[in-house]
Amino acid sequence: MTEPPVPRHIAIIMDGNGRWATRRGLSRSEGHQAGAEPVRAVLRAARQAGVRYLTLYAFSTENWGRPEEEIQGLFVLLMKYLQSEVAELMATGVRLEAIGDLETLPALAREALTVAMDCTSGGRELTLTLALSYGSRAELARAASLLALEVAAGAREADSITPQTLAAKLWTSGLPDPDLLIRTGGDMRLSNFLLWQCAYTEFYFTPTLWPDFGEADFQAALDSYQTRERRFGLSV
Ligand code: IPE
Ligand code: IPE
Ligand code: MG
Repeated sequence: MTEPPVPRHIAIIMDGNGRWATRRGLSRSEGHQAGAEPVRAVLRAARQAGVRYLTLYAFSTENWGRPEEEIQGLFVLLMKYLQSEVAELMATGVRLEAIGDLETLPALAREALTVAMDCTSGGRELTLTLALSYGSRAELARAASLLALEVAAGAREADSITPQTLAAKLWTSGLPDPDLLIRTGGDMRLSNFLLWQCAYTEFYFTPTLWPDFGEADFQAALDSYQTRERRFGLSV
């Protein structure tokens, strides 16, 4: 018997913190706070399952439109998470990366992120990528602009641009495409996450709100993935 396939790269849209908090009469920020434990649980479960890349949608380009207080709370939480987890990430061979328009992050959060990425750069077990101020449309527009500059400078011909050259200009360059995308919180949409990269990704949607998501839910997503037949457009 061959072993069931383990997704090499899992991407997660961690949605539902606000609704989780509202149902309990708590502030949205308290909902985001409650979302930290599932991150630990999923990271642990992913390592144990042999997943090599875990990418978490933590803050979208569009999330900048939320109230200032909620945004600030989110970046404070990010800094707390990085501070409390970096030793554990190092000890378990996890390399931290980030994708998105990182220049727009508050300076202190960006610094904390840089320190954590430097400290964990030797990790070889799993790459944990945080999508922060990330939006696929901004990512694709930026890639187009970088290629246009190369053409304008005479460094390349316009007709030399292929899917591979474009992919190499995305924030995700170096990351394989996700095999499995999980979205919690019940909505069935991508919300501007990894539009290009998910061309052949398997999707798993669950009504479970992110703060309630645990190892059993992660295992259910893996089980579902293992029933899928991926064809990549080929006949079988
Ligand atoms: C996801 O939870 C976390 C972020 C977008 C930062 P939400 O805050 O979107 O929670 P809901 O969807 O309103 O419940
Ligand atoms: C997607 O959730 C972004 C993150 C989880 C970071 P949103 O809550 O922002 O998405 P919409 O607004 O429901 O599409
Ligand atoms: Mg949401």
